[in-house]
Amino acid sequence: MLRSLFIYLSKAGWARRIVMNWGVAQRMSSRFVAGEHLDQAVEAIKGLNDRGINATLDHLGENVTSPETAQAAAEEILNILDRIAEEGIRSGISVKLSQIGLVLDKALCEKNLLKILTRAQQLGIYVRIDMEDSSLVEHTLSCYFQALEHGFGGTVGIVIQSYLYRSGDDVRRILNQEGTIRLCKGAYKEPPSVAYPKKQQVDQNFDHLTTLLLDRSLEVGEPISPDGVFPPIPALATHDEDRIDFAVDYAKKIGLSKDMLEFQMLYGIRTDLQHELVEAGFPVRVYVPYGEQWYPYFTRRLAERPANLWFFISNYFRG
Ligand code: FDA
Repeated sequence: MLRSLFIYLSKAGWARRIVMNWGVAQRMSSRFVAGEHLDQAVEAIKGLNDRGINATLDHLGENVTSPETAQAAAEEILNILDRIAEEGIRSGISVKLSQIGLVLDKALCEKNLLKILTRAQQLGIYVRIDMEDSSLVEHTLSCYFQALEHGFGGTVGIVIQSYLYRSGDDVRRILNQEGTIRLCKGAYKEPPSVAYPKKQQVDQNFDHLTTLLLDRSLEVGEPISPDGVFPPIPALATHDEDRIDFAVDYAKKIGLSKDMLEFQMLYGIRTDLQHELVEAGFPVRVYVPYGEQWYPYFTRRLAERPANLWFFISNYFRG
């Protein structure tokens, strides 16, 4: 119930206007967002790198409504790639295709994506395409497959959500084309016609898809790159200890070495677990979002764990 409400609010323009001007909400969002400026994100990533953690940097923004905004977002991403290279930080980037025009004009989005991938390939930086709501999955995958056809396979990966019924087929299709996958549960509100309605089913499917990814990783035998920039085939993006334990046990069972999978978590969430995994010898990557458009990202984090809201409110009143 609360989850649905937060997901509805994440798309409501009126709520965005109120919340973004509310100082308390701005302070609350800083738990999940590195800051409004690239400098702050770079500092956050340096701190993570010092602790043995790789990053993926996300300039927040989605569902742009004009070609000019899509173009500007793509230009900003090119600047970010240059900055990552200049700083020598161990970070890739994550991109939402609706930020570079997917909802407006698929051809414009593809053009922007190819520009980004060309620069990323020149600089040796990895790009992960985030997955958005189910209305965009087919178009997102089609842009990804097009990028693979253009020879960007080593530079770009995709995200798959275990709550969607279709994801098993998508994983097989992507692996057949030698793609790389970040597996997550899925953060949007989806109807039971496309997504498992029960958490237990989503979790079971996550474990099932994990086995497909780890099996393929064993077959291909390609570890994370020594500099931590290029991830292995499976990136398991979850803070759920049962899912992580399942993956660790399954990897052990099939004899997959630790550097042939990576765990990913979100900035500000379960930092204790991030460090435990690093200590245990697994590659860990943290998703570091920054920018002025923090509202939808922030409300999705509240939707995942409504208790966060009470935590923030009680801290606020405690001063
Ligand atoms: P689950 O929701 O079951 O939570 C397990 C535990 O994690 C909780 O008990 C709690 O301890 C902790 N936790 C989870 N969320 C929390 C929060 N918001 N605040 C505090 N604690 C929290 N989704 C998507 O649709 N498309 C995408 O491209 C991505 N990309 C992505 C990248 C990375 C690196 C991560 C980690 C996640 C995503 N996601 C995503 C989001 C993902 O789909 C999912 O919504 C969240 O990760 C929460 O699910 P968990 O797997 O953590 O499990």
